[in-house]
Amino acid sequence: MIDDIEIREATLDDIPEITAIFRDTVRAVNSRDYNEKQIEVWSSGADDIEKWEERIKKFYFLVAEVGTTIVGFSYLTKGYYLDGLFVHKDFQRRTIASKLLRIMESRVSLNGYDTIKSDVSITALEFFDSHFYEVEKKQKKSHKGQVFENYIIYKDL
Ligand SMILES: CC(C)(COP(=O)(O)OP(=O)(O)OC[C@H]1O[C@@H](n2cnc3c(N)ncnc32)[C@H](O)[C@@H]1OP(=O)(O)O)[C@@H](O)C(=O)NCCC(=O)NCCS
Repeated sequence: MIDDIEIREATLDDIPEITAIFRDTVRAVNSRDYNEKQIEVWSSGADDIEKWEERIKKFYFLVAEVGTTIVGFSYLTKGYYLDGLFVHKDFQRRTIASKLLRIMESRVSLNGYDTIKSDVSITALEFFDSHFYEVEKKQKKSHKGQVFENYIIYKDL
């Protein structure tokens, strides 16, 4: 548990830290559930800076900070779709994702939706289960020549 986690909207200046978290967390944490080739392809998404700029500009994109260090981030697309939730590999299991998720759920309600949806990794499924998300279906998703198994999940708010 950390007491002093601050949540704020991301800015373009945060991109180096955000992409470093994405790359390192996929390599260190998601590698538990996906093979080497999948992890290489997935973590290379960190290098597509234009896409991260677009996400920050277009979507509701939050970062969690401890002091001046970014320790997690999340973003919402379409007003109700949680498209990303990643926590720094050295700050796992310290309630950072729970705090980000709570704010995202409030935002979805404020946007006028009754249900939040996402598709999430095998690695994150237990986290979402502990937050009372239901699995709609297990799916296989192709990305840059690799097939990723993940889950479409939802929660009625
Ligand atoms: C999934 C993830 C976002 C959770 O972040 P976190 O900050 O560690 O989560 P929290 O500390 O808020 O976890 C709250 C509760 O969720 C459950 N939980 C979280 N991670 C878990 C895990 N790996 N296994 C089992 N339960 C887990 C636990 O009940 C935990 O409470 P506890 O630590 O008191 O037991 C983080 O592990 C992560 O970045 N994973 C890799 C990226 C990823 O797959 N993101 C999902 C979108 S694809």
